[in-house]
Amino acid sequence: MTTGPRVEDHYSSAGIARRILDALKAAGGPDAPVTPDSLAPLDHFHGRGIQATRELVELLRPAAGEEILDIGSGIGGPARWIAWTFGCRVTGVDLTPAFCEAARELNRATGMDDRVRILEGNALALPLPDDAFDRAYSQNVVMNIADKRRFYAEARRVLKPGAVIALSNLMAGPGGLPHFPVPWANGPDTSFLSTEAETRADIAAAGFEILSFRDTASETVPKQSAFRRKLESEGMPALGMQVLMGERMRELTINSIRSLEEGRAIPVEILLRKPA
Ligand SMILES: C[S@@+](CC[C@H](N)C(=O)[O-])C[C@H]1O[C@@H](n2cnc3c(N)ncnc32)[C@H](O)[C@@H]1O
Repeated sequence: MTTGPRVEDHYSSAGIARRILDALKAAGGPDAPVTPDSLAPLDHFHGRGIQATRELVELLRPAAGEEILDIGSGIGGPARWIAWTFGCRVTGVDLTPAFCEAARELNRATGMDDRVRILEGNALALPLPDDAFDRAYSQNVVMNIADKRRFYAEARRVLKPGAVIALSNLMAGPGGLPHFPVPWANGPDTSFLSTEAETRADIAAAGFEILSFRDTASETVPKQSAFRRKLESEGMPALGMQVLMGERMRELTINSIRSLEEGRAIPVEILLRKPA
Protein backbone atom coordinates (compact mmCIF):
# COMPACT_ATOMS: atom_id res chain seq x y z
CA MET A 1 0.00 0.00 0.00
CA THR A 2 1.35 3.47 -0.80
CA THR A 3 0.60 6.47 1.38
CA GLY A 4 0.66 10.12 0.42
CA PRO A 5 2.95 12.75 1.90
CA ARG A 6 2.41 13.39 5.61
CA VAL A 7 2.04 16.86 7.11
CA GLU A 8 4.61 16.14 9.81
CA ASP A 9 7.27 15.09 7.27
CA HIS A 10 7.12 18.55 5.71
CA TYR A 11 7.96 20.14 9.06
CA SER A 12 10.38 17.61 10.60
CA SER A 13 14.15 17.91 10.95
CA ALA A 14 16.72 16.94 13.59
CA GLY A 15 18.33 19.26 16.16
CA ILE A 16 15.87 22.16 15.84
CA ALA A 17 16.31 23.66 19.32
CA ARG A 18 20.12 23.44 19.11
CA ARG A 19 20.13 25.23 15.73
CA ILE A 20 17.90 27.98 17.11
CA LEU A 21 19.94 28.53 20.27
CA ASP A 22 23.18 28.51 18.26
CA ALA A 23 21.79 31.08 15.81
CA LEU A 24 20.74 33.33 18.70
CA LYS A 25 24.23 33.19 20.21
CA ALA A 26 25.93 33.66 16.83
CA ALA A 27 23.94 36.89 16.36
CA GLY A 28 23.96 38.20 19.96
CA GLY A 29 27.13 36.73 21.46
CA PRO A 30 27.60 33.92 24.00
CA ASP A 31 25.73 35.83 26.72
CA ALA A 32 22.72 36.68 24.54
CA PRO A 33 19.59 36.37 26.70
CA VAL A 34 17.34 33.41 25.86
CA THR A 35 13.80 34.73 26.42
CA PRO A 36 10.46 34.46 24.60
CA ASP A 37 11.20 37.96 23.25
CA SER A 38 14.75 37.30 22.03
CA LEU A 39 13.67 34.02 20.38
CA ALA A 40 10.73 35.64 18.59
CA PRO A 41 12.41 36.06 15.16
CA LEU A 42 13.06 32.29 15.20
CA ASP A 43 10.05 30.62 16.80
CA HIS A 44 6.81 32.29 15.57
CA PHE A 45 6.29 30.13 12.48
CA HIS A 46 3.70 32.00 10.42
CA GLY A 47 3.69 34.96 8.03
CA ARG A 48 4.66 38.28 9.71
CA GLY A 49 6.01 36.43 12.78
CA ILE A 50 5.49 38.03 16.18
CA GLN A 51 3.59 40.97 14.69
CA ALA A 52 0.82 38.56 13.65
CA THR A 53 0.88 37.01 17.15
CA ARG A 54 0.54 40.49 18.72
CA GLU A 55 -2.50 41.21 16.53
CA LEU A 56 -4.07 37.84 17.37
CA VAL A 57 -3.59 38.55 21.07
CA GLU A 58 -5.48 41.85 20.71
CA LEU A 59 -8.47 39.72 19.70
CA LEU A 60 -7.84 36.97 22.25
CA ARG A 61 -7.22 39.20 25.32
CA PRO A 62 -5.63 36.56 27.57
CA ALA A 63 -5.49 37.35 31.29
CA ALA A 64 -3.19 36.32 34.14
CA GLY A 65 -3.96 32.91 35.62
CA GLU A 66 -6.08 31.72 32.68
CA GLU A 67 -5.69 28.33 30.98
CA ILE A 68 -5.07 28.92 27.26
CA LEU A 69 -4.88 26.33 24.46
CA ASP A 70 -2.67 26.68 21.36
CA ILE A 71 -3.86 24.25 18.65
CA GLY A 72 -0.94 23.39 16.35
CA SER A 73 1.63 25.04 18.60
CA GLY A 74 4.65 24.40 16.35
CA ILE A 75 7.93 24.94 18.23
CA GLY A 76 6.06 26.90 20.90
CA GLY A 77 7.09 30.51 20.24
CA PRO A 78 3.59 32.03 20.50
CA ALA A 79 2.77 29.84 23.55
CA ARG A 80 5.91 30.95 25.44
CA TRP A 81 5.47 34.60 24.46
CA ILE A 82 1.80 34.70 25.53
CA ALA A 83 2.46 32.90 28.85
CA TRP A 84 5.42 35.22 29.55
CA THR A 85 3.68 38.44 28.55
CA PHE A 86 0.29 37.84 30.19
CA GLY A 87 1.10 35.51 33.11
CA CYS A 88 -1.24 32.76 31.93
CA ARG A 89 -0.64 29.03 31.44
CA VAL A 90 -0.56 27.70 27.87
CA THR A 91 -1.06 24.13 26.64
CA GLY A 92 0.21 23.52 23.11
CA VAL A 93 -0.85 20.53 21.01
CA ASP A 94 1.04 19.68 17.84
CA LEU A 95 1.16 16.81 15.36
CA THR A 96 4.90 16.96 14.54
CA PRO A 97 7.06 15.09 17.10
CA ALA A 98 10.25 17.00 16.16
CA PHE A 99 8.43 20.30 16.76
CA CYS A 100 7.10 19.11 20.16
CA GLU A 101 10.60 18.06 21.20
CA ALA A 102 12.04 21.43 20.12
CA ALA A 103 9.23 23.28 21.91
CA ARG A 104 9.96 21.46 25.18
CA GLU A 105 13.72 22.16 24.88
CA LEU A 106 13.06 25.84 24.23
CA ASN A 107 10.60 25.93 27.16
CA ARG A 108 13.43 24.71 29.40
CA ALA A 109 15.98 27.11 27.84
CA THR A 110 13.70 30.07 28.55
CA GLY A 111 12.63 28.84 32.02
CA MET A 112 9.02 28.60 30.81
CA ASP A 113 8.48 24.87 31.31
CA ASP A 114 6.33 25.40 34.41
CA ARG A 115 3.88 27.59 32.46
CA VAL A 116 3.88 26.04 28.97
CA ARG A 117 3.15 22.34 28.47
CA ILE A 118 3.39 20.65 25.10
CA LEU A 119 1.33 17.61 24.10
CA GLU A 120 1.96 15.62 20.93
CA GLY A 121 -1.42 15.06 19.32
CA ASN A 122 -3.86 15.71 16.52
CA ALA A 123 -6.16 18.74 16.42
CA LEU A 124 -8.84 16.35 15.13
CA ALA A 125 -8.75 14.29 18.37
CA LEU A 126 -7.36 16.66 21.02
CA PRO A 127 -5.87 14.72 23.97
CA LEU A 128 -7.76 16.98 26.37
CA PRO A 129 -10.97 16.88 28.45
CA ASP A 130 -14.22 18.72 27.68
CA ASP A 131 -14.82 22.30 28.88
CA ALA A 132 -11.21 22.78 30.06
CA PHE A 133 -9.91 26.07 28.61
CA ASP A 134 -10.64 29.75 29.22
CA ARG A 135 -9.43 30.72 25.72
CA ALA A 136 -7.81 29.09 22.68
CA TYR A 137 -6.01 30.21 19.56
CA SER A 138 -4.58 28.65 16.41
CA GLN A 139 -2.25 30.22 13.86
CA ASN A 140 -1.71 28.84 10.33
CA VAL A 141 -2.78 25.29 11.19
CA VAL A 142 -6.16 24.72 9.49
CA MET A 143 -4.34 25.14 6.17
CA ASN A 144 -2.99 21.57 6.76
CA ILE A 145 -6.39 20.14 7.72
CA ALA A 146 -8.96 18.78 5.27
CA ASP A 147 -11.64 17.96 7.86
CA LYS A 148 -12.19 21.49 9.15
CA ARG A 149 -15.59 20.70 10.69
CA ARG A 150 -13.89 18.23 12.99
CA PHE A 151 -11.16 20.79 13.79
CA TYR A 152 -13.79 23.36 14.88
CA ALA A 153 -15.86 20.74 16.73
CA GLU A 154 -12.83 19.61 18.74
CA ALA A 155 -11.89 23.22 19.58
CA ARG A 156 -15.45 23.84 20.76
CA ARG A 157 -15.48 20.67 22.87
CA VAL A 158 -12.44 21.63 24.97
CA LEU A 159 -13.44 25.28 25.54
CA LYS A 160 -15.46 26.28 28.60
CA PRO A 161 -18.99 27.51 27.80
CA GLY A 162 -18.81 31.17 26.79
CA ALA A 163 -15.04 30.97 26.01
CA VAL A 164 -13.48 32.32 22.81
CA ILE A 165 -11.03 31.06 20.19
CA ALA A 166 -8.98 33.39 17.96
CA LEU A 167 -7.79 32.11 14.58
CA SER A 168 -5.31 33.56 12.15
CA ASN A 169 -4.66 31.75 8.88
CA LEU A 170 -4.99 31.84 5.11
CA MET A 171 -8.17 31.13 3.15
CA ALA A 172 -8.54 30.20 -0.52
CA GLY A 173 -8.82 33.18 -2.87
CA PRO A 174 -10.21 33.60 -6.38
CA GLY A 175 -6.74 33.43 -8.00
CA GLY A 176 -6.36 29.62 -7.96
CA LEU A 177 -4.07 27.34 -5.94
CA PRO A 178 -1.07 28.82 -4.09
CA HIS A 179 2.34 28.72 -5.77
CA PHE A 180 3.82 25.54 -4.25
CA PRO A 181 5.97 24.84 -2.32
CA VAL A 182 4.81 27.16 0.47
CA PRO A 183 5.84 27.27 4.16
CA TRP A 184 2.94 25.01 5.21
CA ALA A 185 3.08 22.42 2.39
CA ASN A 186 5.16 21.13 -0.50
CA GLY A 187 2.09 20.61 -2.64
CA PRO A 188 -1.69 20.27 -2.79
CA ASP A 189 -1.71 16.85 -1.04
CA THR A 190 -1.24 18.53 2.37
CA SER A 191 -2.63 22.02 1.70
CA PHE A 192 -6.35 22.63 2.23
CA LEU A 193 -7.41 26.26 1.94
CA SER A 194 -11.15 26.98 2.26
CA THR A 195 -13.02 29.91 0.81
CA GLU A 196 -14.66 32.46 3.11
CA ALA A 197 -18.09 30.89 2.47
CA GLU A 198 -16.79 27.39 3.29
CA THR A 199 -15.06 28.70 6.42
CA ARG A 200 -18.24 30.39 7.67
CA ALA A 201 -20.28 27.23 6.98
CA ASP A 202 -17.75 24.99 8.82
CA ILE A 203 -17.72 27.34 11.82
CA ALA A 204 -21.53 27.45 11.94
CA ALA A 205 -21.73 23.64 11.70
CA ALA A 206 -19.58 23.39 14.86
CA GLY A 207 -21.98 25.66 16.73
CA PHE A 208 -19.66 28.63 17.24
CA GLU A 209 -20.89 32.21 17.25
CA ILE A 210 -18.77 34.51 15.02
CA LEU A 211 -17.73 37.61 17.01
CA SER A 212 -15.48 38.99 14.25
CA PHE A 213 -14.28 37.85 10.83
CA ARG A 214 -11.74 40.09 9.12
CA ASP A 215 -9.90 39.79 5.79
CA THR A 216 -6.61 41.57 6.60
CA ALA A 217 -5.12 41.56 3.07
CA SER A 218 -5.36 45.31 2.46
CA GLU A 219 -3.32 46.06 5.61
CA THR A 220 -0.82 43.22 5.50
CA VAL A 221 -0.08 42.33 1.88
CA PRO A 222 1.71 45.62 0.96
CA LYS A 223 4.13 45.05 3.87
CA GLN A 224 4.56 41.42 2.84
CA SER A 225 5.38 42.57 -0.71
CA ALA A 226 8.09 44.88 0.61
CA PHE A 227 9.50 41.91 2.55
CA ARG A 228 9.42 39.76 -0.63
CA ARG A 229 11.44 42.37 -2.55
CA LYS A 230 13.99 42.44 0.27
CA LEU A 231 14.21 38.63 0.29
CA GLU A 232 14.75 38.61 -3.47
CA SER A 233 17.54 41.18 -3.34
CA GLU A 234 19.22 40.40 0.00
CA GLY A 235 18.13 36.88 1.03
CA MET A 236 16.87 35.84 4.47
CA PRO A 237 17.83 37.86 7.57
CA ALA A 238 20.41 36.13 9.86
CA LEU A 239 17.68 35.44 12.42
CA GLY A 240 15.00 34.06 10.15
CA MET A 241 12.82 31.00 9.69
CA GLN A 242 15.49 29.26 7.55
CA VAL A 243 17.07 28.25 10.87
CA LEU A 244 13.94 26.12 11.43
CA MET A 245 13.07 25.03 7.88
CA GLY A 246 16.42 25.16 6.04
CA GLU A 247 17.59 27.27 3.11
CA ARG A 248 14.42 26.41 1.12
CA MET A 249 12.59 28.87 3.43
CA ARG A 250 13.46 31.78 1.14
CA GLU A 251 11.67 30.14 -1.81
CA LEU A 252 8.74 29.03 0.38
CA THR A 253 8.27 32.56 1.74
CA ILE A 254 8.49 34.21 -1.67
CA ASN A 255 5.92 31.73 -3.03
CA SER A 256 3.59 32.43 -0.12
CA ILE A 257 3.79 36.20 -0.58
CA ARG A 258 3.27 35.91 -4.36
CA SER A 259 0.19 33.80 -3.61
CA LEU A 260 -1.13 36.59 -1.35
CA GLU A 261 -0.38 39.25 -3.98
CA GLU A 262 -2.24 37.27 -6.65
CA GLY A 263 -5.32 36.49 -4.53
CA ARG A 264 -4.45 32.78 -4.33
CA ALA A 265 -4.44 33.03 -0.51
CA ILE A 266 -6.30 35.49 1.71
CA PRO A 267 -5.23 36.25 5.30
CA VAL A 268 -8.03 36.25 7.86
CA GLU A 269 -8.41 36.88 11.59
CA ILE A 270 -11.45 35.31 13.25
CA LEU A 271 -12.85 35.44 16.79
CA LEU A 272 -15.42 32.78 17.78
CA ARG A 273 -17.38 32.14 20.97
CA LYS A 274 -18.72 28.85 22.27
CA PRO A 275 -22.27 29.57 23.44
CA ALA A 276 -22.61 29.86 27.22
C1 LIG B 1 2.89 26.75 9.96
S1 LIG B 1 3.10 25.83 11.44
C2 LIG B 1 2.47 26.98 12.66
C3 LIG B 1 2.99 26.68 14.05
C4 LIG B 1 2.49 27.64 15.14
N1 LIG B 1 1.05 27.72 15.15
C5 LIG B 1 3.09 29.01 14.96
O1 LIG B 1 2.36 29.89 14.50
O2 LIG B 1 4.27 29.20 15.30
C6 LIG B 1 1.75 24.67 11.32
C7 LIG B 1 1.76 23.71 12.50
O3 LIG B 1 0.53 22.98 12.50
C8 LIG B 1 0.81 21.67 12.93
N2 LIG B 1 -0.30 20.82 12.48
C9 LIG B 1 -0.70 20.58 11.22
N3 LIG B 1 -1.74 19.73 11.20
C10 LIG B 1 -2.03 19.44 12.50
C11 LIG B 1 -2.99 18.62 13.15
N4 LIG B 1 -3.89 17.90 12.46
N5 LIG B 1 -2.98 18.56 14.49
C12 LIG B 1 -2.07 19.27 15.22
N6 LIG B 1 -1.11 20.06 14.66
C13 LIG B 1 -1.10 20.15 13.32
C14 LIG B 1 2.14 21.35 12.30
O4 LIG B 1 2.77 20.26 12.93
C15 LIG B 1 2.87 22.67 12.49
O5 LIG B 1 3.54 22.72 13.72
